[in-house]
Amino acid sequence: MRRTRNSRSARLRFAALATALALGAALGACSPGAPSAPSPGTSGDEADPQDGAASPAPLPSGELVSASPDDLRLGVAVAGGGHHLETGLGSGTALADETYASLVAENFTSLSPENQLKWEWLRPERETFDFAAADELVAFAQEHGLAVRGHTLFWHSQNPAWLTSGELDDDELREVLREHVETVVGRYAGQIEQWDVANEIFDDHARLRTQDNPFLGRFGVEIVADVFRWAHDADPEAVLFLNDYAIESIGPKSDAYFELVQELLADGVPVHGMGFQGHLSMKYPKPGDMRENLERFAELGLEVAVTEADVRMAVEDGVASPEDLAAQAGYYEVMLDACLEVDSCRSFTVWGLSDAFSWVPFFFAGEGAATLLDEEYRVKPAYVALVDRLATGR
Ligand code: XIL
Repeated sequence: MRRTRNSRSARLRFAALATALALGAALGACSPGAPSAPSPGTSGDEADPQDGAASPAPLPSGELVSASPDDLRLGVAVAGGGHHLETGLGSGTALADETYASLVAENFTSLSPENQLKWEWLRPERETFDFAAADELVAFAQEHGLAVRGHTLFWHSQNPAWLTSGELDDDELREVLREHVETVVGRYAGQIEQWDVANEIFDDHARLRTQDNPFLGRFGVEIVADVFRWAHDADPEAVLFLNDYAIESIGPKSDAYFELVQELLADGVPVHGMGFQGHLSMKYPKPGDMRENLERFAELGLEVAVTEADVRMAVEDGVASPEDLAAQAGYYEVMLDACLEVDSCRSFTVWGLSDAFSWVPFFFAGEGAATLLDEEYRVKPAYVALVDRLATGR
């Protein structure tokens, strides 16, 4: 399918953006700044015309959305919770910052709560649910016409201690899970378009995570089918995904999903999509066969989606080299290209708006600069590459 929307204005914006970025890069202006809280547009590093120097890279202004085909959602994880608790954000979300909020609203058509729908956030205690933050994110999405991807209902990580301590017997554990899925999916029925129902159920050796996942150890893989059925009953319209990292290429781990999902489909389980997180590192080669991989899942009748794209690289004191930032674009392009080439890929989400909020420096020592915008929200070469790729259509 060809691009349908605002093509001329997208082209003009892109030309301006590419020029500004090239000039900015020549000045080194797109390197991430200090790892402190961002002060977008107020850094004072605008070039002095007296020096004959050009402007630094601009902030994004809707170029991705303008260039995107109508049938593709462009998503972003909204910062809050998880590792952000250790930062200036505390327990809030970044939407409290006006610049952040308007950049999300203007530059994306979908959002994912980064942590606020995870068990540890929603269920600090067994008896209660805390929906306040998730409600705010969903309300923000509605106000700005964004879709919401729900993340996640069934995972081995970020679970409260009361759930994982082993104190619940089989019946209780199963009941708690059923209640959780029905309550959470039911609450947002009609408001959350897609759910990452089961997240990361295979480990890096393509083995089912029976050790780490509190439910898989007890009930085996059959519980995955139940979770999908409960979610579907709670919201029959929601598009329900399996989701994982390191499955962008064809290999043992993506093969494990390919087999499992066929079994689930054969059993009539309401699984509708396969999510490819897309947490890439420039230490490794690009997933050159990603299109082919997505295609084989699409041929089963599934939607496919890129759900958490970021591309990390080696940094020194948080700063990446201009060469690496330029090379990063190629990694993002491979993921977007795979999505655009496969008709049933209707959602492409990046995991973090800017380097100021990325999870990467907290989880991967010596790596960073993984998102499309630097710490001051200025566009990086990868951003320009994605606008360019979108403009060529499906
Ligand atoms: C990460 C969040 O970005 C962090 O804030 C949090 O501390 C840990 O989790 N795969 C997933 C996401 O499915 O939920 C993870 O998000 C990143 C890896």
